[in-house]
Amino acid sequence: MPSTDAWWRDAVIYQIYPRSFADGNGDGMGDLPGITARLPRLRELGIDAVWLSPFYVSPQHDAGYDVADYRDVDPRFGTLGDADKLITEAHDLGLKVIVDLVPNHTSSEHAWFRAALAAPPGSPERDRYIFRDEPPNSWQSVFGGPAWQQVEDGQWYLHLFDVSQPDLNWDHPEVRAEFLDILRFWLDRGVDGFRVDVAHGLVKDAELTDWTQPSVVLGGLEPAGTPPPMWDQEGVHEIYRQWRSVLDGYSPPRILVAEAWVQPEERLARYVRPDEMHQAFNFPYLEAPWTPAELREVIDSSLAATGAVGATTTWVLSNHDVVRHASRLGFPVTEKRKPGIGIGDPQPDTGLGLRRARAASLLMLGLPGSAYLYQGEELGLPEHTTLADEVRQDPAWERSGHAERGRDGCRVPIPWEADAPSYGFGPGDHSWLPQPAVWAEYALDRQVDVPGSTYELYRSALRLRRERGLGAGSLAWTGSAESVLAFRNGDLLVLTNFGPEPVALPDGVRVLLSSEPLDDGRVPTDVTVWAVP
Ligand code: GLC
Repeated sequence: MPSTDAWWRDAVIYQIYPRSFADGNGDGMGDLPGITARLPRLRELGIDAVWLSPFYVSPQHDAGYDVADYRDVDPRFGTLGDADKLITEAHDLGLKVIVDLVPNHTSSEHAWFRAALAAPPGSPERDRYIFRDEPPNSWQSVFGGPAWQQVEDGQWYLHLFDVSQPDLNWDHPEVRAEFLDILRFWLDRGVDGFRVDVAHGLVKDAELTDWTQPSVVLGGLEPAGTPPPMWDQEGVHEIYRQWRSVLDGYSPPRILVAEAWVQPEERLARYVRPDEMHQAFNFPYLEAPWTPAELREVIDSSLAATGAVGATTTWVLSNHDVVRHASRLGFPVTEKRKPGIGIGDPQPDTGLGLRRARAASLLMLGLPGSAYLYQGEELGLPEHTTLADEVRQDPAWERSGHAERGRDGCRVPIPWEADAPSYGFGPGDHSWLPQPAVWAEYALDRQVDVPGSTYELYRSALRLRRERGLGAGSLAWTGSAESVLAFRNGDLLVLTNFGPEPVALPDGVRVLLSSEPLDDGRVPTDVTVWAVP
């Protein structure tokens, strides 16, 4: 359980993707009762909090990141009563609950957008969105294709994502007031915080200045320098200061977590200044290649940037938008690839990927700060890399003209029981995305109490992390060979060997945990060790 009032500073927060975590009613789609029933398993794993991706009323054109009603639960996932029950049971288990807030855009089925379409150009209804008589620029949608869509009477509206996700006009006082109210709605229901979707996108530059480069936001950071006109504008910070003042009226403390694809780290740290958000996802860390030099650099710059504003650093390796790290790390270290993997694409080396993923996770959990886990990574789950293109649902697949496979491969329902239909995902025998045949070997019931399993590695790491207060600790690099990353957090030595030859540990240390068996007391390649004097 988190130790202090500032519980988020060292918390391990587990991302639940509601569609794919647990299906309570057997319809093939995960739901809130399914999640609630399995919360005790997360308690056993040893996390502090869960973050749930959106479960609100939505036509699901972007898996729920297209919200039609922010104050109700989509019937696919349950009811408001189910959400209340989930929050209560999580709290009873000592787990905090963070929900997703999607303020950059609504669904095109939201009452406001319907009203905007029904009203004439120039009407107050249209002013809640970004309508123009002509596209004022050639901005591209993040999912591919133009970011402007024409409506029947000839006007155009802005959608940085799918055409079904019109961007809101954050200069409009009603938009601002509405989201303050939505925050209070969920705070009053007891949630412990919000993950703020596309936090760097709400405010666009006033002139909607042209920008001809692709609008990269997922799986790729904008080149450092002047932010493009749609991202990271100064005006977003005022919004978060206002939100913070609302959250500060609640006790115990509630948090805001920024999903902001912003670099360099100093710019990202501006989102977590003392009167703004509490945390921001550390995507530069997620994107760092598997080399000691680059990891050391990003760890140092992350700690320095957040330290300078008094915030905690976060670490993350996987989420619902990127290739799972057990597969990502199974490619040659320096290779740059498009997001998504499918039939016909180069396939990762699964054994190498898992080996490195275990080492990467143990390295991450030894760092001071807060860590985010994505459901299934504790099972060593790889990406589904051979999904048939016909079943793909990510709008990026169609909108990119099939140039990008999209993110479905990391969203496949997770396996709980090796021998049950849908691997225990639910009582039914199917799931909204098909699970690959190899899923059985990753199922939770094949790993619990099995020494050396990835699940037990995570469980041990989380227990030791808590016992030793690693999240609240600090990092001191120790001298090591170039191919090794080694630091102390308190008296714990965390050492990862990236080189081809096994390396010796300092004399007399006692090994507490190791991502793979040692080689005659030495640390083999792509292995992390935790040791004490
Ligand atoms: C965020 C979400 C992603 C979604 C996008 C649009 O990046 O993580 O899944 O598609 O925002 O809401």
